[in-house]
Amino acid sequence: MKFTKNIEVKNIFNKISYKYDFLNSLLSFGLHKLWKRKLVYLLKPLNGEDWADLCCGTGDLAFLISKRVSPKGSITGIDSAEDILNIAKKKSEIKKNKFINWEIKDVLTIDVCSKKFDGICMSYGLRNLNNVEEGIKKVFYLLKNKGRAGFLDFHHATQHSLPNIFQKLYLRIIVVTISSLFNLNKEYAYIEKSIKNFPKKNELIKIAKEVGFKKVEYRTIFFGQMGILILFK
Ligand SMILES: C[S@@+](CC[C@H](N)C(=O)[O-])C[C@H]1O[C@@H](n2cnc3c(N)ncnc32)[C@H](O)[C@@H]1O
Repeated sequence: MKFTKNIEVKNIFNKISYKYDFLNSLLSFGLHKLWKRKLVYLLKPLNGEDWADLCCGTGDLAFLISKRVSPKGSITGIDSAEDILNIAKKKSEIKKNKFINWEIKDVLTIDVCSKKFDGICMSYGLRNLNNVEEGIKKVFYLLKNKGRAGFLDFHHATQHSLPNIFQKLYLRIIVVTISSLFNLNKEYAYIEKSIKNFPKKNELIKIAKEVGFKKVEYRTIFFGQMGILILFK
């Protein structure tokens, strides 16, 4: 139970929901869309499969996956923050996408006997869970046999390494300054704290193996700023 925290992240995401998509694109210079596409490309969802996008936020991954698994499969987007999930639902209406099933729920409380998935994805969600190990365990039990899961998040780089220095400068100078224009600097300053409490590459691999995943892959992208963890059951 090393990677735990007790803060109410739901309030943070409800508060930033109205600017979430806009700031995501601005602060990542639009690159978050490419990284999400990369995750989906690596996971290779197939038509007819059942998928879940956990901590779906405004649903970027769910929309990408719905294109691949429809019309025979299913995709469920799950998030605990009502305001951000409402934006996902609105985007569904605008896109006329009736395929995605949106559920408001805390990932850590999903009943593992309810439904099993061929694949599960999470972008920038694992780091925000109150217990990272429990999150990975939950994903394991929600997957069908031979299922796969993929996580995209900030890479927790080694202290004082170049990627670590760059990440700190980026978060402190660019992210906090721009978010302060919208009075959301306190909420965005949380990112740096959450990365400090997030397992590093080897720790994530160790947790996933201990949970029972047979094959575990981790790769960094964008000069060591982001990490993609792919797990096979
Ligand atoms: C940084 S956002 C990422 C949203 C989206 N996946 C994306 O990449 O744009 C993190 C999301 O995780 C959700 N979240 C955090 N803890 C959660 C939990 N325990 N259960 C469900 N959702 C959670 C938040 O409400 C928020 O929408």
